[in-house]
Amino acid sequence: MTTTATAAPRLENPSARLHDASVRGFASDNYSGVHPEVLAALAAANEGHQVSYGEDDYTARLQGLMEEHFGPGIECFPVFNGTGANVLSLQSLLPRWGAVVCASTAHINMDENGAPERIGGIKLLHVPTPDGKLTPELIDREAWGWGDEHRAQPLAVSITQTTELGTCYTPDEVRAISDHAHAKGMKLHMDGARLANAAAHLNVPLRAFTRDAGVDILSFGGTKNGLLYGEVVVALNPEAAHGLIFLRKMNMQLASKMRFLSAQFIALLEGDLWLRSASHANAMAARLRAAVDTIEGVEPTQKTESNGVFAVLPAGIADRLRESFRFYDWDEAAREVRWMCSFDTSEDDVDAFVAAIRRELAAHHADTEAG
Ligand SMILES: Cc1ncc(COP(=O)(O)O)c(C=O)c1O
Repeated sequence: MTTTATAAPRLENPSARLHDASVRGFASDNYSGVHPEVLAALAAANEGHQVSYGEDDYTARLQGLMEEHFGPGIECFPVFNGTGANVLSLQSLLPRWGAVVCASTAHINMDENGAPERIGGIKLLHVPTPDGKLTPELIDREAWGWGDEHRAQPLAVSITQTTELGTCYTPDEVRAISDHAHAKGMKLHMDGARLANAAAHLNVPLRAFTRDAGVDILSFGGTKNGLLYGEVVVALNPEAAHGLIFLRKMNMQLASKMRFLSAQFIALLEGDLWLRSASHANAMAARLRAAVDTIEGVEPTQKTESNGVFAVLPAGIADRLRESFRFYDWDEAAREVRWMCSFDTSEDDVDAFVAAIRRELAAHHADTEAG
């Protein structure tokens, strides 16, 4: 498996470019552009006419490819974005009175502007976790009160793979959660915005920690792994999910030119692009982590099990680094930052960033000693 970063495609009309293409940072895996193989697939799909709203040859091929990855009997629904994928997945699992148990750090809880509640009409019951991962014990903090008309009924669990904190559930951990949830009459959703990064980290097929581990419905992410845009809702257990075709339209996630969503996922899944890109992003995060582990003053806060590194920095350092490299605070009060790598992050990018961190911390230590 190569971990060489992918070069940007040659530009036909450089004067149309409005940004400095040499600038790359560590803010998010959706700051990167489109993988050249995905762009090529879009161009190839862009000839002639195809039936709209998913009745096209690309969407049929994508269904076949998803079956190759997850096994027969699954149903897939391409959508525009991750928030939409999550909302319609969860809606399909629940009646009007249903609630979802999730980690407090879950994207559905923190970063979707209440869309599951406001658009989906779904109550979220969120639980603090040390590392973004739910366990059966943590789920039980909110999984109670069935039959009580005063309490939103906990009828589903949502986990994120890899988590918002860059950690990864093992197949056994997912299985323990699905067994626990199912025993209590709850269904299991997985937010797989970074699903490929999990497979790369675990070194197992996608189905090992999804369908084979008891997940009922999956939001399969593409945007963070080199697509222009797009995710796929995969009903791994279609009997658990109701009305997905109607919910997709109601939630404004039905693309009329669906062939372009599907063509991108075909580019990702037909060969090994999904794994190549995710492995590369993970390898760059591992490189960054290994380097910052040797820098006094940087305190990593989580295991690096995917494409992100989380760390606490001394006061003032993050803002100085941000003069040259973009990245986000994760918990500003705790001075915790998040550094994300992407399919196109290069070793040179990481090394330049590490050098900047070293410089800033050396200056900080010198100031502290002098002061
Ligand atoms: C864990 C997770 N889920 C879902 C999403 C999808 O979000 P969007 O609606 O921006 O595509 C993201 C993006 O940041 C994410 O990190």
